[in-house]
Amino acid sequence: MRKKVITGNWKMNNDLGETQNLISKLINGLSNETLSCDVIICPPFTSLQEAGLLIKNTPIKLGAQNMHQEGNGAYTGEISAGMLKNVGCEYVILGHSERRTIFGEKDELINLKIKKALESELKPIFCVGETLEEREKDATTKVVERQITVGLKNISSDEIKNLIIAYEPVWAIGTGRTATPEQAQEVHAYIRLLINRLFDVQTAENLVIQYGGSVKPDNAGELLSQKDIDGALVGGACLKADSFIGIIRSA
Ligand code: 13P
Repeated sequence: MRKKVITGNWKMNNDLGETQNLISKLINGLSNETLSCDVIICPPFTSLQEAGLLIKNTPIKLGAQNMHQEGNGAYTGEISAGMLKNVGCEYVILGHSERRTIFGEKDELINLKIKKALESELKPIFCVGETLEEREKDATTKVVERQITVGLKNISSDEIKNLIIAYEPVWAIGTGRTATPEQAQEVHAYIRLLINRLFDVQTAENLVIQYGGSVKPDNAGELLSQKDIDGALVGGACLKADSFIGIIRSA
């Protein structure tokens, strides 16, 4: 049985004061709960260290939203895997559709980042998903297959144990338009089949596949009850403690 994982991707939101405020509300709100799922928060770089200190000795885990593929050097404005580990990160989101579309990240680059993260003992939350145009052209599985095949090139099944895949249809991100549970389940089942084909059945069975795209407390339960949906990668709804806790409760 796979444990569900709920991740909050804060994106470019929350300064230090807002970070303290949101985390203290989360800790208070969750203090009387026995969590049956894993909870990860991914604040912006400038809040990571503070967030790491605030969630110490709580069940909440820390992730970053991006990193550079090299260990160090003349890469102005970039952050390395080692730096993320150093401030307490256990996870890193890689290949998010906003990185792909706004910042031009390609599958090959994402593959290098995934390799670097795994080598540095950071667990990637590897995002894939099709655009609306690709879905309308019936290219969803083709796109997801390419993203995963290239993204996980030269990675071993042993390393996949430390990786989460997040299926985030681009048309559902920040639009209020969620994939139906059936639409999401169909792609999740396909991803598991693909991992079975690329690696092996055990790796596929153990893989956590999160769904992301307009997940809210009122749709989370149905999405999370699907056989191959093992968690959620939440954007907008993770910025308010109440709604993020609502989603955590549905898991
Ligand atoms: P929303 O939940 O705001 O649609 O964002 C999803 C997302 O991109 C999480 O990474």
